[in-house]
Parts: sequence; C-alpha cells; structure tokens
Amino acid sequence: MALKSEANRWGAGARTLHWVMAVLIIGLGLVGLYMSDLPNSPQKIKIYALHKSVGLTVLALLLLRLAWRMADRRPDEVPMPRWQALAARAVHGLLYVLMFTLPLSGWLYNSASGYPLQWFSLFNLPSLTGGADPALKGTAHLIHEYGFYGLVLALLAHVGGALKHHFIDRDDALVRMLPLLRRHPPVPMSREPVMTAIETPAPPDTVPAPHADPSQETAKP
Ligand code: HEM
Ligand code: HEM
Repeated sequence: MALKSEANRWGAGARTLHWVMAVLIIGLGLVGLYMSDLPNSPQKIKIYALHKSVGLTVLALLLLRLAWRMADRRPDEVPMPRWQALAARAVHGLLYVLMFTLPLSGWLYNSASGYPLQWFSLFNLPSLTGGADPALKGTAHLIHEYGFYGLVLALLAHVGGALKHHFIDRDDALVRMLPLLRRHPPVPMSREPVMTAIETPAPPDTVPAPHADPSQETAKP
C-alpha cells in the first residue's frame, strides 16, 4: 500500500489521516452533545477533560494533514459535470475551515471561561484570552455549538456525494478513499464494480475472458 497518493488512488497517508480524523470528530460531536447535559460530578469533569484533549489532538492532526496535503499529490478528479466538481471542492474547503473552527472555538471558550487547559494531563496549553472574559465566552460557545451543526450539514452533502458516486455513478471516488479496499486492474469488457474486500496482489497477466473482444486487448510481450 503506497504511502503517497497516485493519479487514481489516495495514498495510505491521506487515507489514514482522513479516517482517523473523521472518527475522532464525529465522536467528539456526540460526546460534546452528551456531556453538556450531565449533572455536575467528577465523571463530568473527566469527560470534559477527555473531550478537550481529543479536540486538541484533532487540531494537531489537522496541521499534520495540511502539511501532508502540500507534500502529497491529489488523485485526478473522477469524471463528473463541472458544477459537481466545484461543489465537491467547496464542501471540502468548508470541512477544512470547520475542522479549524471547532477546536479553536473550543479552546477560546475554555480560555474565556477562565479554565486551565491540559493535554491528557501531560502538559499545559496557554490561555487564548489571558483570563476570564464573559462576553467572549458566550460568542465562543455559540461558534462552537453552531459550528458543529454546520459541520453536520457539510457532512450530509459530503457523505451524500460520496454515496452518489458509488451507487449511482458507479465510479471509484469512494473506493479509492476507503481503507483496505483495492481496485482490480481493469478487466477487458467487464462492466462489474472494480473492487475486492482486501488487498490482494494483482494477477500476473490478464487472460482475456472467452467472450472478450480481441480488438480491446492491450499489447502483450
Ligand atoms: C473537532 C473538535 C471538536 C468538536 C467536533 C467539538 C464538538 C462539541 C460539541 C458538539 C459540543 C456540544 C455543544 C453544546 O451543545 O454546548 C461541545 C461542547 C464543548 N466543547 Fe467541544 N468540540 C471540539 C473540540 C473542543 C476543544 C479543543 C475544546 C477545548 C479545548 C472543546 C471544549 C468544549 C467544551 C468546554 C464544551 C462544553 C460546552 C458547555 O458546557 O456547554 N471542544 N463540543
Ligand atoms: C468528520 C468527518 C469527515 C471529514 C471532516 C471529511 C473531510 C474530507 C476532506 C476535507 C476531504 C478532501 C481531501 C482533500 O482534498 O485534501 C475528504 C475527501 C473524501 N471524503 Fe471525507 N470527510 C469526513 C467523512 C467522510 C465519510 C463518512 C465519507 C464516506 C462515506 C467520506 C468520503 C470521502 C471521499 C470519498 C473523499 C475523496 C473525494 C475525492 O476523491 O475527491 N468522508 N473528506
């Protein structure tokens, strides 16, 4: 499995970052909504601390992802109408903005509330406000909460688009981002979906199917 992306495939680096971050962000959203309604208790404090530490991890992973994106290539776009390509790019841009906004507004909210901030009890992070700031606290909380609802909407478009590519357009857009899935080399004359459930070595040479049109064959040694 190549670490870097190729013309028709996301590399292991981009795919790992995409899915690790997707799981963490969706988990943070669910835990965030659950924890705010809990009655005060030591358990609640622990869950808040965990939410903040994992949220800061997402911020660090985002910086790594952007650096990786600059060093890596993007696979070529699968064929689609121009407006769809532009819409997909706009949603990706929005997702990147929200991946920044959510942890930063959480950090700002924590700072404006006057609370200290630690990463998994290992080290402290500085306050972004230099002390409690009640007015900013309310604004940061609004950005954090509504930013998450914005993320949910962007994700509906993103996931809807990915599923449309897979089930309606029947192209490779989703498969080439999934972990542990690999495209077969093209099979002459086949109209079946081109994927297997696990990484398998490519067949040594393609034997034409009995019904194959010989004119479609590629040159052989
Ligand atoms: C991608 C990262 C993050 C996501 C998706 C996320 C999501 C959420 C959500 C959905 C809520 C519930 C909002 C509400 O109804 O009040 C919440 C609450 C909260 N988040 Fe985050 N969060 C993230 C990162 C962070 C970070 C980095 C911090 C702090 C450093 C943080 C601090 C908080 C706090 C303190 C609350 C509780 C607000 C309250 O008590 O009402 N979050 N988060
Ligand atoms: C919190 C969850 C998610 C976030 C923040 C997210 C974000 C992103 C971003 C920013 C990209 C663009 C990558 C780049 O160009 O650098 C991307 C690509 C992609 N995502 Fe997600 N994603 C999430 C969840 C999902 C889910 C659940 C699916 C599938 C059902 C999915 C399918 C894809 C696919 C197929 C691509 C590649 C698109 C292409 O080849 O142009 N993503 N994602």
